Amino acid sequence: MHFEVMRAQVRPDESWAESADRSLPGPGPALAVDLSADPLRFQIDSDHRFSVRPMTLGDFPDVSRWVNEPHVAKWWDEHRTPDQVAAYYGPALRGEDPTRLWIWEVNGRSIGFSQDYRISDHPDWALLCAHPEAIGFDYAIGEPAFVGRGIGTSLLWVFLRDIVWPAYPGAREFFAAPDHRNAGSLRLLEKLGLKQGVWFDEPAAGDDVDTVIGCSLDVAQVMGLSGSTSGVTE
Ligand SMILES: CC(C)(COP(=O)(O)OP(=O)(O)OC[C@H]1O[C@@H](n2cnc3c(N)ncnc32)[C@H](O)[C@@H]1OP(=O)(O)O)[C@@H](O)C(=O)NCCC(=O)NCCS
Repeated sequence: MHFEVMRAQVRPDESWAESADRSLPGPGPALAVDLSADPLRFQIDSDHRFSVRPMTLGDFPDVSRWVNEPHVAKWWDEHRTPDQVAAYYGPALRGEDPTRLWIWEVNGRSIGFSQDYRISDHPDWALLCAHPEAIGFDYAIGEPAFVGRGIGTSLLWVFLRDIVWPAYPGAREFFAAPDHRNAGSLRLLEKLGLKQGVWFDEPAAGDDVDTVIGCSLDVAQVMGLSGSTSGVTE
């Protein structure tokens, strides 16, 4: 069931997400559909249960398979083999790297993954963000059957609102930087209220560079001023 919130209906002291919660026409959660225009569009999806849980070592076979799916491999330059995946993601799972790794689920089935981290832990990127305490995130739906059905929009919203936002109280900017040719990812971010900023070249495999577009979410406007301290949706 879709519902809309006129921007003028959002109270001065509330975020878009809080306004959607206040306007829910039935049992939630309120999922963003398109926040790029006026009215803001949301939905309740009673057919799908979207959840985000911590990644474990047992997910590496799925992650290895997903990064080799053509629709993901096109935008993923590195860590292709199971050994490379274990070497790349293992340190975060062992707590040796502060990046947090997550698995996306639809009705209990693992279909993709994401990560979040403080941009200040990656000094090369810090210059690209308006706020030094910005939080970076990356994401992919690995299962081809789940791509292009609006599921990325719903799950990235759940990830940002229920996992990222509560974990970094006071953060004012969430940041992602898709390749400038990745139209689907750029549109997805736009639909969740992110704004495009600087274009910059990022070192890629071999001697290549990827030209990417920095996209930022105004956390106070879209999510609210600060989160609580917990993290995982069940
Ligand atoms: C990016 C990704 C997460 C999007 O999830 P998704 O479920 O496929 O996206 P949705 O179905 O929610 O669609 C989001 C919007 O993008 C649009 N879109 C999707 N693919 C597109 C494409 N190739 N070209 C243009 N627009 C596209 C959709 O039409 C939709 O916009 P609309 O509602 O205005 O029509 C998913 O495609 C994916 O995992 N891709 C590979 C990995 C990747 O690129 N990760 C991001 C790295 S920055």
